Amino acid sequence: MNAPGCPPPDDPLPGAALRGAPPPDRYPLAIIGAGALGLHFAARLAEVMPVAVIARDDERAARLKAGVTVGDRVFKADAFAADAPPPADWVIVLVKAGDTAAAAAIAEHMQPLGVLSLQNGLTGDLLRAHCRAPRVDQGITTEGAYREGTAEAERVQPSGAGETLLPRGFEPVAEMLMRAGLHARVEPDIGAARLAKLLVNVAINPLAAVHRANNGALLAPPLRAELDRLVHEAWPVLHAEGLALDEPAALARVHAVAQATGANRASMLQDVLAGRRTEIDAITGALLQMAARRGMAVPTHEALYQAVRALEPGKGSLSESRPCTDT
Ligand SMILES: NC(=O)c1ccc[n+]([C@@H]2O[C@H](COP(=O)([O-])OP(=O)(O)OC[C@H]3O[C@@H](n4cnc5c(N)ncnc54)[C@H](OP(=O)(O)O)[C@@H]3O)[C@@H](O)[C@H]2O)c1
Repeated sequence: MNAPGCPPPDDPLPGAALRGAPPPDRYPLAIIGAGALGLHFAARLAEVMPVAVIARDDERAARLKAGVTVGDRVFKADAFAADAPPPADWVIVLVKAGDTAAAAAIAEHMQPLGVLSLQNGLTGDLLRAHCRAPRVDQGITTEGAYREGTAEAERVQPSGAGETLLPRGFEPVAEMLMRAGLHARVEPDIGAARLAKLLVNVAINPLAAVHRANNGALLAPPLRAELDRLVHEAWPVLHAEGLALDEPAALARVHAVAQATGANRASMLQDVLAGRRTEIDAITGALLQMAARRGMAVPTHEALYQAVRALEPGKGSLSESRPCTDT
């Protein structure tokens, strides 16, 4: 189960010994958000330690207890409904950005030492506004997973190993992730790392969503010019906020991600196609706020922000029934 290059788990509680063990009174770790990424992380972590999975309601929790397929295994989660979460030392938030405030309130209920968002977009301030745990912060992850199948026969498919960077103070969580064989480390300049991830998200996600294009198509005409303009506009703002890349490196980073994920559908495109709310406020909305604060112009981002909002439910969504096949 170890990802290549990861230290072997120093595991006093092998997964097999955990199965059937009584649930602890207080969990060392809980994950709020039993979706693609939450279940991917939970299934890996549950191999080496008890993990509480917080689902939206009793029905969803019961389904997760019965078992959900994650990769090539059936994962029977220690699942709880959101209105009855157990106490936990550390909490990872993996709901979509629009559900952050609700997740923060659930997390506070669990009396944790720390709450860590691994969501896309900038959600740390929102989380802090709704949760008074001793530590509340945001890391980033390039782990990937997607959901397929039906609600009754759901499957979570991990889509390639990535890396998870955590803020200082979350060393115990990094340690747990490493024990589960995931690439994870504490990043001293987590602010710059978050901005680098935001740069990629503001360039790729809305453009892919509005044009219904796979990531690779953004590198070819006619979309390539707009992709590059998005980086050119965003870079001065993000650099002023602490992005540690010069503009050529920023452009190269965005191109490399679009290339490496060329066959994929960006998550914002998947949300639009499924008629769901997107994470545009936490992604492009965060950039627009920074630009406004600094009196900087980002007109292409503003136009894309409005275009994505117009595609969201209740605003003439372009929802279609064909399933998404990629992350
Ligand atoms: N998937 C990836 O590859 C990936 C990679 C990097 C980052 N991310 C980020 O990680 C976050 C989660 O993404 P995802 O793809 O895992 O999303 P997802 O599959 O939609 O999962 C989110 C889960 O959160 C649940 N939820 C929402 N509100 C809740 C609440 N109040 N209480 C309990 N559960 C609640 C949802 O339940 P319902 O289904 O009932 O709404 C859903 O199961 C996003 O910010 C995303 O951008 C994802």
